[in-house]
Amino acid sequence: MIEKTAFDRIIITGDIAEAHSFARHLYNLYDRVKVPIYFVLGNHDFYKGSIADSIKQAMEINNYPIDIHYLGYDTVVKLTSKTCLIGANGWGDCRSGTVDLSRFDVNDHNRISDFLGMMPNQIIGLRQRLAEEEADRLKKTLWSACAFDHIIIATHVPPIHAKQRNNATEYSYPFYCNAALGAELTTVTVHKDNSNKRFTVLCGHTHVGDYVEKYNMEFHISGSNYNNPELEVIEVK
Ligand SMILES: [Fe+2]
Repeated sequence: MIEKTAFDRIIITGDIAEAHSFARHLYNLYDRVKVPIYFVLGNHDFYKGSIADSIKQAMEINNYPIDIHYLGYDTVVKLTSKTCLIGANGWGDCRSGTVDLSRFDVNDHNRISDFLGMMPNQIIGLRQRLAEEEADRLKKTLWSACAFDHIIIATHVPPIHAKQRNNATEYSYPFYCNAALGAELTTVTVHKDNSNKRFTVLCGHTHVGDYVEKYNMEFHISGSNYNNPELEVIEVK
């Protein structure tokens, strides 16, 4: 599929593989496509490992002489004279819908070492803290990125309420929306100095394709599924 698509860069919005294997998959992909690859990490990329270790692995890729780039929070990648790219991993931050782990839980809490042994209130607290820290970092980078006319933001979990799969309920939204990031994005994008800018948010996680416009932001939510990544071609000027 990927060989039949014309592109000059690839942006991956997380859930590449698992902690022990996402780097290998990135190298294999680069060997096939030989174009720059930019990525953030999704929750699955922490599975069978820890959050810190996966981020460390991702940061180390930036040190290698290969055109694969982890979008660290203070990185603004110039794509063209008018367009740039930034990124943040992102978490479902338990600030949307109703949080009740007895009604809806996710595998993250059994497969990422940071969550093992935690009580529900500790899990919720950690997810909120992780999301807030990343949103705060991204906000600072976003202000730097506003030197460009068109800002592309790669993240994993939709920062808005997007379509979910058939089993979506008010109990699943806490894990499928990053409200902290949504709030920070809105603060910057609606600022009067940025009213003439275009913000494109690329994300995934829900397995259901969706497209939403809000203020001067457009959200492209990939409908990728296991072993079946979805490709979307975006033209930039
Ligand atoms: Fe995910």
